Amino acid sequence: MQRGSHHEAWSSRFAFLLAAVGSAVGLGNIWKFPYVTGVNGGGAFVLVYVACVILVVIPILIGELLIGRRGGESPANSMAALAKDENRHSSWEILGWLGIIAAFLILTFYSVIAGWSLAYVLETAKGSFENIDATGSREIFDGLLADPLSLGLWHGLFMGITMFVVSRGVKKGLERAVTVMLPSLFVILLVLVGYAAIAGEFKRAFDFLFTTDFSKIDANVILIAVGQAFFSVSVGIGALMTYGAYLPRDVSIPKMSCVIAAADTLVAVLAGLAIFPIVFAYGLEPGEGPGLIFVTLPIAFGQMPGGTFIGTLFFVLLAFAALTSSISLLEPTVSRLVEQRDWKRVPVTICAGVAAWLVGLGSVFSFNNWADFTPLGIFPTFANKTVFDLLDYLATNILLPLGGMLIAIFAGWLMAKKSTLDELGLTDGPVYRVWRFLVRFVSPVAVGLVFLFNLA
Ligand code: TRP
Repeated sequence: MQRGSHHEAWSSRFAFLLAAVGSAVGLGNIWKFPYVTGVNGGGAFVLVYVACVILVVIPILIGELLIGRRGGESPANSMAALAKDENRHSSWEILGWLGIIAAFLILTFYSVIAGWSLAYVLETAKGSFENIDATGSREIFDGLLADPLSLGLWHGLFMGITMFVVSRGVKKGLERAVTVMLPSLFVILLVLVGYAAIAGEFKRAFDFLFTTDFSKIDANVILIAVGQAFFSVSVGIGALMTYGAYLPRDVSIPKMSCVIAAADTLVAVLAGLAIFPIVFAYGLEPGEGPGLIFVTLPIAFGQMPGGTFIGTLFFVLLAFAALTSSISLLEPTVSRLVEQRDWKRVPVTICAGVAAWLVGLGSVFSFNNWADFTPLGIFPTFANKTVFDLLDYLATNILLPLGGMLIAIFAGWLMAKKSTLDELGLTDGPVYRVWRFLVRFVSPVAVGLVFLFNLA
């Protein structure tokens, strides 16, 4: 069978761009980036983060899309095909499987957090936060986390919507969903930034995000920035590799990669500019941590005029962003399964989604019944880590950078120069040379160093 014949292609370059930006923009931008920036001292972290995106993540993203499009199949089959084309060992197929498994694992806990955002749409719309104080807000959040039944149901609802979209296929499912949701997401985000600029302490937030205190940069900040950059741009595993397989040949991969990374970074910064002015205006704590948008922000929504509306809008934004990402986490598994002879998309999607929901229950229980269950507790690094923490650690700090490093090695060292030149549609000029230098030397070495520090 001809390569790629199992799959639909994107109907246009723009459709691909929306889908890829949709994958990149997610909880990582709106939930994680602001709080990680807050905890790690603001501007210094932002600077390191942007450097990681440009020097490490974009080169790997180019490699990932290039492998995906040249292979034309799911990550596993694309890697197998390319290993053969390039006369490399067939075990490179394992890299593809690693990507599929990593995407699946991330989906299992991603959907649990995305479930919180659905719960909060309802909670804010009901007006539960009106005139609430810090204790009250924390009680609502802790109450949600303590209740495995509602967590499991919200997680199930979110997974169900993801499955619905993916089951309809590339054009009718993925494309339609992102075409509606991504532009809405941008509009909502701009409205929120506008609101924060008028009603909040915008200048202070701006200084917080962009004034760099170099003394705050240390190995740990770099480590966190690299992990966050991989996660936020969706790079390092099979998600964008799978999207690349559906990419028409006339699209320039280097250009697309820069646009995807730039849009993702822009949204992260805008999310910071929507959130921190409000945090400062209401005297709240920017370094609050993971609870920043679920505990801290609702206090402000409860006090501000029109806060019920603005708050609801905010959590709708979060849910949309999460959904356009979760579909890219389910798609790699589904794309591999439909390559199996006679396996149809709908049943395959249902099986994969239900399996991800079941595994995700481990993360659901991590916040209540299993809160004290630390499976790897005998190792000091994992001392207090729940099942959820372990999955997050394994995926974000190990599988993503490892996958990214192997992608860089394959695209930079093992593919023939002629193949990469041809696939990127470039001549052997400055753009190609810069990419090749970064992907061969800078990205793998940077990731290797991060691993060393991580282990030490
Ligand atoms: N990038 C998404 C976010 O920021 C999450 C995500 C979607 C992802 N697909 C991925 C992360 C693939 C890593 C790999 O929320």
